[in-house]
Amino acid sequence: MDPLPSSSPSTPPSPEGFIYVGPASNFLPSKSNAEMNEDLNETEKCAVSQTACERKIAKDGDEYLIKVVEIPQPAGRYPPQKRVAISYFRKKWYGFINICPHQGSALDRGAMVDIEDMGIVWGAGITCTLHNWTFDASSGQSDSSRFVIDTYDVKEIDGHVFVSQAPRNAHVLGPRRDFGGRELN
Ligand code: FES
Repeated sequence: MDPLPSSSPSTPPSPEGFIYVGPASNFLPSKSNAEMNEDLNETEKCAVSQTACERKIAKDGDEYLIKVVEIPQPAGRYPPQKRVAISYFRKKWYGFINICPHQGSALDRGAMVDIEDMGIVWGAGITCTLHNWTFDASSGQSDSSRFVIDTYDVKEIDGHVFVSQAPRNAHVLGPRRDFGGRELN
């Protein structure tokens, strides 16, 4: 997981209600990552480089990342940080809490998928790697239960990425569960 960039004179100003999480290049698969992967076996990828581990390949060969950042919450809230997974998938940005409400698995270990019906793709989802529940990455709704995951607005402005501090899907009803703010497995 990447720490939030510390503020400096070069840190771009955030739109109201958004938090700066880094340059867009941090969230995109890079050529250097691809070259590194070719030289490593699966075990080495995870042992040597967290970045290499995070590279994902969709079923049609599209490459993408799911990266986790910590978003500070307003004073007095618990947990004080939310762990938010960010992915640029199918040319759109997505943000969602990184904790599966089923049994607490880290959603960044899963895969982004197309949500489609009758061959028409109308959205993107995140499939948890532990028991394959899929959550709509925009609405947060599950295909397997009433549980909902918080989703976040993500903006790219001049090559910099910002995430909303508050969830975008508060209007979507359903039980949430974040296990105290930490992934369990
Ligand atoms: S922990 Fe995610 S589907 Fe079970």
